Amino acid sequence: MCSTNYCLAIFVLVGVVAAQDPRLTACNAGNSLNTCQWQFNNKTGFDQSLGVTNYQGLRSAIEKSFADYQALGLLNICEAYKEYQQCYTDGQFFACAQNPFGLLTATNNGGVQFTQDQANGYVKIWNQLDFVCGAGFSIFANAEDCGSAVFNNQTAAMRQCDNDFNVNAAADPNEACAYVEIAANCYFQLFWNACKKPEVAYWGCNYERTGTNLLYPQCSQIFCTFHERVI
Ligand SMILES: *[C@@H]1O[C@H](CO)[C@@H](O)[C@H](O)[C@H]1NC(C)=O
Ligand SMILES: *[C@@H]1O[C@H](CO)[C@@H](O)[C@H](O)[C@H]1NC(C)=O
Repeated sequence: MCSTNYCLAIFVLVGVVAAQDPRLTACNAGNSLNTCQWQFNNKTGFDQSLGVTNYQGLRSAIEKSFADYQALGLLNICEAYKEYQQCYTDGQFFACAQNPFGLLTATNNGGVQFTQDQANGYVKIWNQLDFVCGAGFSIFANAEDCGSAVFNNQTAAMRQCDNDFNVNAAADPNEACAYVEIAANCYFQLFWNACKKPEVAYWGCNYERTGTNLLYPQCSQIFCTFHERVI
């Protein structure tokens, strides 16, 4: 038993820490996430089953748009992504879309508890879009034929890169940064093979790195290079 004042002090302290540190803020799913995902799916014409629990399907639908509509596909996704961000009027974008911990501790979600895989997989998508819709946009647009070809016929190879990364990083977390680099090189090679252009290979490398790096912030020393490289 603790004295009332002591308990109150702990309560206040925990409350203050949680309020001040965005990394500890839970995503209020019912209040924002579900609405914003619905809006994103509506805007893109995606099935409403896509979201955190089916992040693989969400990824496939986004990448199919890159494959089918090339730079226009990126543009459509990026416009919907911008609205998705703006949808979080309560400041919950970080907790619901950028921080796996926010999803793992999600509240107001109709009894659904997200898994670590789902939280990581969902957050990875939006972090990749930050690159795709920012610095990466013009690079892809300038090479849209071969860039989109990778999303047309190399998705199985991309998922193999992802899967190798997940398996290896889980088995050997101390070497996570090495696996971040291997996964980025794996994508680099796929885009290099299709386009034979250093800037597109760099795009592929960054597409993967911006996703995996987020989950391992200590790997901030992994960069994609702009010159020709053959593994
Ligand atoms: C999006 O929502 C609006 C309003 O509810 C609806 O009229 C429209 O058909 C929806 N679009 C898609 C693609 O589902
Ligand atoms: C992928 O598709 C492109 C055209 O869309 C084609 O040129 C290329 O050879 C294909 N690559 C493989 C490995 O099938």
